[in-house]
Amino acid sequence: MNTAEKLKYYNETVNERLDSLLSRPDADFPVITDAMAYSVKNGGKRIRPYLTLITSELCGLERFDENALDFACALECIHTYSLIHDDLPCMDNDDLRRGKPTNHKVFGEAVATLAGDALLTYAFEIVARSNASDKAKVKATAALSELAGYKGMVGGQVMDLIGETKRLDRREYEKMNALKTGCLLRCTARLGLAAAGCEDADMYARCDEYCSCIGWAFQIRDDILDVIGDSEEFGKPLGSDEKNGKTTVLSYMSLDEAQELAAKLTEKAKAALSVYGEKASDLYDLADFLLNRRK
Ligand code: IPE
Ligand code: IPE
Ligand code: MG
Ligand code: MG
Ligand code: MG
Repeated sequence: MNTAEKLKYYNETVNERLDSLLSRPDADFPVITDAMAYSVKNGGKRIRPYLTLITSELCGLERFDENALDFACALECIHTYSLIHDDLPCMDNDDLRRGKPTNHKVFGEAVATLAGDALLTYAFEIVARSNASDKAKVKATAALSELAGYKGMVGGQVMDLIGETKRLDRREYEKMNALKTGCLLRCTARLGLAAAGCEDADMYARCDEYCSCIGWAFQIRDDILDVIGDSEEFGKPLGSDEKNGKTTVLSYMSLDEAQELAAKLTEKAKAALSVYGEKASDLYDLADFLLNRRK
């Protein structure tokens, strides 16, 4: 199987688990659970859950281990919340996401904001209710809260907003990228290894380096696709960054140079795992796949 086929195959299991976690017929206020489910079930690529699952396998867990799967779904809820809020009129003001109207276009701004809040807290409920060991749950909770919060993804979103009104210098821009996109990608491996009961600091460090590099490359590719993508395939209108005066990788270099930088980061990511040889081949393949993604 190539990476596209493998992602599709893993997504069947991930989507099934997300469907069951997001179907809450017991909700007192169905509008909120409908809004949460709308965005989660809305066909993302699910690269974060895939990463959690394949890093758990690298550390010896069986494919689709139930705890790795629950941790992966928890992170996908946080990722989805970040997208719902990112699209709000007070943020990037986008009308389409994953090829469908954004959450606030369907449910209104207030409910969309609350759906994001509820997905964030629900992620911690998923971890707490999982069958993982207490130690794994504590590690997962620490990873999610540190990397999604003010020192992580949220911090990066704040820098992104600052970058609309003030030109960030190259170091600030790199920091923004590392936070807003890199942190949730780094979280994937932390969760996969936590589910596997990993105690090997070197493995955590190597996987962290891999995720940091692919995270940076991922946002570079996202910035490139915002300019040269196919809006139908990308699932979002193009030109959102320019419309909002964003600082992106293209504020510093040409399209070709940006793609070249992403290619270098992809090689660096793969090198971080080379000690694992063929055992890490799914991770090498994913890095290559993301470099040329069209959506
Ligand atoms: C979009 O992430 C947000 C960024 C960090 C650039 P994805 O491109 O992974 O979004 P989905 O989940 O596939 O829609
Ligand atoms: C930030 O990047 C994504 C989040 C941290 C939520 P973008 O704002 O560039 O993401 P897209 O392009 O809307 O998916
Ligand atoms: Mg944004
Ligand atoms: Mg955006
Ligand atoms: Mg973007």
